[in-house]
Amino acid sequence: MAGKIIFITGASSGMGYAATKLFALRDWQVYAGARRTEKIPTGANIHPLHLDVTDKASRNDFATQALDDAGGVDVLINNAGYGEFGPLEEVSEENARKQLETNLLGASELTKLVLPTMRFQRSGRIINISSIGGEMYSPLGGWYYVTKHALNVWSDTLDTEVRQFGIRSIIVEPGGTASSWTEIAMANAEKNLKPNSPYLKLTNGTKALLKRMGSQSSATSEDLAEVFYRAATDAKPKYRYYHALGDNFIGHLARVHQHLFKHVMAFAVDRLTK
Ligand SMILES: NC(=O)c1ccc[n+]([C@@H]2O[C@H](COP(=O)([O-])OP(=O)(O)OC[C@H]3O[C@@H](n4cnc5c(N)ncnc54)[C@H](OP(=O)(O)O)[C@@H]3O)[C@@H](O)[C@H]2O)c1
Repeated sequence: MAGKIIFITGASSGMGYAATKLFALRDWQVYAGARRTEKIPTGANIHPLHLDVTDKASRNDFATQALDDAGGVDVLINNAGYGEFGPLEEVSEENARKQLETNLLGASELTKLVLPTMRFQRSGRIINISSIGGEMYSPLGGWYYVTKHALNVWSDTLDTEVRQFGIRSIIVEPGGTASSWTEIAMANAEKNLKPNSPYLKLTNGTKALLKRMGSQSSATSEDLAEVFYRAATDAKPKYRYYHALGDNFIGHLARVHQHLFKHVMAFAVDRLTK
């Protein structure tokens, strides 16, 4: 089989969908996983496979089928993810677990299934799709930000362990990008609200803000697919990839100027709840 081999999770929508098309067009063999297999793009070089990253048997089936068919793997993109938004007081333990199992453990457990092959090859790249929410935070996204902050630390630690085998683990941090993500996160924010919730005003304010930001967002899923491609093909990969300077800036602000960022957040919440 010609071309390099890539496994992409969350290939039925948004960035994973766009990346599947882009890599296939550039002659990579793409093993594309999602729960809604019928929504994965079809065409030359694309091998759609069922995958629920929260399900051990499904992860095993996906990795076994893809590795058997391809005979190796150059890149894994851990892209599957969603936002379990809602006020921390009201998000159930079950939904918090689902968030961790999808965005963090789904990626880490799938990675464990490809690492033996990559170590044997003495080459490979794990690209973890985090978020600017891996550096910053804002109301209602608590559990989502926990998973993305944790994914960053997990990826950086893994990188220190697998570099000796010629393998790299790196991060892409998208900012606001047109996809199904915002709609799903906002539907979850509503679903997680308890009746007569004291967080109703904050939730409505945040929804309106995200909607406004979404309509002004300049990034498309295709833009991010190009960033994924750079992360997969740069001879010397960076630890972090961003699409826009502003995405890098907001993370820097939250990380390096923590007090200032807290003031900005307090001001924003004050406005959202008025
Ligand atoms: N869009 C943004 O503004 C933004 C910003 C920063 C970071 N991100 C991150 O970028 C990644 C891609 O998001 P997107 O914007 O492209 O969102 P999207 O359009 O909602 O796509 C999410 C993908 O994840 C898959 N997925 C969700 N749960 C899954 C599970 N349990 N098993 C397997 N696949 C699962 C979905 O497929 P199925 O439902 O068919 O399984 C879908 O293909 C996510 O990790 C997201 O957190 C997004």
